[in-house]
Amino acid sequence: MTKKALITGITGQDGSYLAEHLLARGYEVHGLVRRVALEDSSRRFGRINSIRDQLTLHAASLESYPSLFHVISRNPFDECYHLAAQSFVAESFSDGFSTMNTNINGTHYMLAALREIRPECRFYFAGSSEMFGRVREIPQRESTPFYPRSPYGISKCAGFELTRNYREAYGMFCCSGILFNHEGPRRGFEFVTRKITSTVAAIKLGMASELRLGNLDAKRDWGHSADYVRAMHLMLQQDEPDDYVIATGETHTVREFCEMAFEQVGLDYRRYVVVDERFYRPAEVEILVGDASKARRELGWAPQYDFRELVAEMVRSDLEQLTRSGGALRYAAWPVG
Ligand code: NAP
Ligand code: GDD
Repeated sequence: MTKKALITGITGQDGSYLAEHLLARGYEVHGLVRRVALEDSSRRFGRINSIRDQLTLHAASLESYPSLFHVISRNPFDECYHLAAQSFVAESFSDGFSTMNTNINGTHYMLAALREIRPECRFYFAGSSEMFGRVREIPQRESTPFYPRSPYGISKCAGFELTRNYREAYGMFCCSGILFNHEGPRRGFEFVTRKITSTVAAIKLGMASELRLGNLDAKRDWGHSADYVRAMHLMLQQDEPDDYVIATGETHTVREFCEMAFEQVGLDYRRYVVVDERFYRPAEVEILVGDASKARRELGWAPQYDFRELVAEMVRSDLEQLTRSGGALRYAAWPVG
């Protein structure tokens, strides 16, 4: 029988890669989308344009339990991937309230509606390495205590605990992936990797002259989104529900990312990168590096991209997109970072 999957956040980076992954495995893929003022659907659904006719989209809001209940009650989903969230850490410092509302209540509503109508549906929660925050050990693994450093990190800890509680209290098949940073050509422009690669492309093409960044010493374990969505799917195919760290096990500074991205186009980052205090965060996560040995052992998961390939693909893609769009598709100053 054809499996039916629901993806919240299908218009985002991971949602789009996951939808492609599930379609390729013969799933009937449904997605939740919210109503926004931007009506141009080629932009609004830009990441899923190429597969749009193979998807069933439902309008619903994470702020509204009845709207979620309505969609779930009319479709017998086998698997639900709850990816929708306010995912930008810097923004969570500016507006912690809406981040908490979307990320905590939205997750709770999804779990409660599934419990009510379709408790047999398997559930994936998009947990984050941001939950480790001021890290208690290096590398971080499933047993590492959480110490979140942002409203976003706190909201993800709450979502993680809710997911575990529904598993333990109601016997539902609920899993959390504790995913470390993952990127790719579809990454939002405000995140540091895409801000760097899109600005590198703009500088190379003579459309920009500098790149303003905050903390260049922060270290992240950067993988590719296409690799990480495979892990989400694998988690829901196991005999028992559990939580897994998904990471490459390698860490690099923002400075190293810059160096490699500029190198791709034959430029020296030191001539273009300007440190700008506006992009520093009130509390920083200094270092993230994950130990994904449980996922390797139990899920048979391993990343296929390495750091150099990731950076090279992003720079290449941004050069192409920027050329094709006549300079329109690139980082444009976001008020907070
Ligand atoms: P993303 O590109 O920012 O996508 C976020 C998605 O959530 C979009 O589809 C967005 O819809 C939707 N969304 C945001 N606020 C919403 C709201 N109030 N109601 C309904 N939908 C809403 O994020 P991503 O990188 O794909 O990440 C997917 C998930 O994984 C997120 O939960 C993120 O926190 C988590 N995560 C990401 C990483 C990473 O490095 N990428 C690592 C760990 C965990 P619109 O298109 O309508 O805005
Ligand atoms: N965005 C941004 N902009 N970050 C900058 C900048 C800048 O100009 N300059 C330095 N940074 C540093 C940030 O301070 C942070 O230490 C690092 O670059 C990465 O920032 P982001 O790319 O915004 O990602 P993040 O690590 O805060 O959060 C991402 O990864 C989490 C998993 O650890 C997001 O995808 C989260 O949703 C995800 O959960």
